[in-house]
Amino acid sequence: MEAKKLMALIVDDEIEICAAMERYLKREGFETATANNGREAVSLARQIGPDVIILDVKMPTMSGDQALEEIRKFDAESVIIMVTAVEDIEISLLTLKGGADDFLRKPIVLGELLHSIQSTLEKRRLVSENRAYQKTLEFKVAEQTARLARLLGELKTTNREIILAFSEAIEAKDPYTKGHCRRVASYSVRLGEAAGVQKEWLEALETGAMLHDIGKIGVIETILNKPGKLTQEEFESVKTHPVIGFNITSNINTLREASRIVRNHHEHYDGSGYPDKLASAQIDILSRIVLIADAYDAMTSDRPYRKGMPREKAIAILRECSGTQFDPGLVKLFIEGKLYLITE
Ligand SMILES: [Fe+2]
Repeated sequence: MEAKKLMALIVDDEIEICAAMERYLKREGFETATANNGREAVSLARQIGPDVIILDVKMPTMSGDQALEEIRKFDAESVIIMVTAVEDIEISLLTLKGGADDFLRKPIVLGELLHSIQSTLEKRRLVSENRAYQKTLEFKVAEQTARLARLLGELKTTNREIILAFSEAIEAKDPYTKGHCRRVASYSVRLGEAAGVQKEWLEALETGAMLHDIGKIGVIETILNKPGKLTQEEFESVKTHPVIGFNITSNINTLREASRIVRNHHEHYDGSGYPDKLASAQIDILSRIVLIADAYDAMTSDRPYRKGMPREKAIAILRECSGTQFDPGLVKLFIEGKLYLITE
């Protein structure tokens, strides 16, 4: 199929020059139209939508630079080449800013005219190709971003499901602790917020609090559920649960931060806890928070062999053990902020 011919609109008030350019461009394979002043050029450009406009600057009725301004109001696509006498060069330079693509000096050398048309058309083509490429690229980036956001959402859901499944596993092992993990998580997040824990750490705090006793699935049930005092040997067995829990969670990438809480949630402020006998600032703040939340909920919850103690008594014990078992600053926040009053 023959390629569509390009349309050139030639505008010059000198009829002979117009005719010479027309003959030449026809021979070079263009379709042509001519106008002899600016006004005529504007109206023709509007009618036929040329690909190229060759526009003389100095013309009666409406000059080329004015015509350029008018044409650019409705046509940003066509290539416009200004033609000028030597004395009009300043005007021509200004027209480049006004939307012309090139300018040629009179007398016109037809070969130069063709070269100017071809190179400006090529430049246009590259610019529009680049624009199309940019658009495709932006679209692809948006598409990938949406896909990543969707995957991230799915990952978060899966993560929540894993955490819930784990906490159900703990409660299945010790059914009387039903709701304990959820309540410890709730107290912990509130205490964390009061202590100024950064937002991005609150999620790890909540997860660590939910899973703090996950290691109990590795401790014999009869020991876990034994009413009354444990023997030394039984207690040693219970004391393995933070490390068992750490081993379960620390290899899961999304649970890495929470696994530290799982390991440290029985460390005491004065170094008398287990498993690593860490003290004060050696224990991360998230674990110090969970220790308080866990202790408070354990004291106030009912067990099959004993009733939960009244709130006031549990608070008195927190106060009493502040500075030995518990971080005193956090106990103060927990009690003075009455954070124990709210659970989900
Ligand atoms: Fe524990």
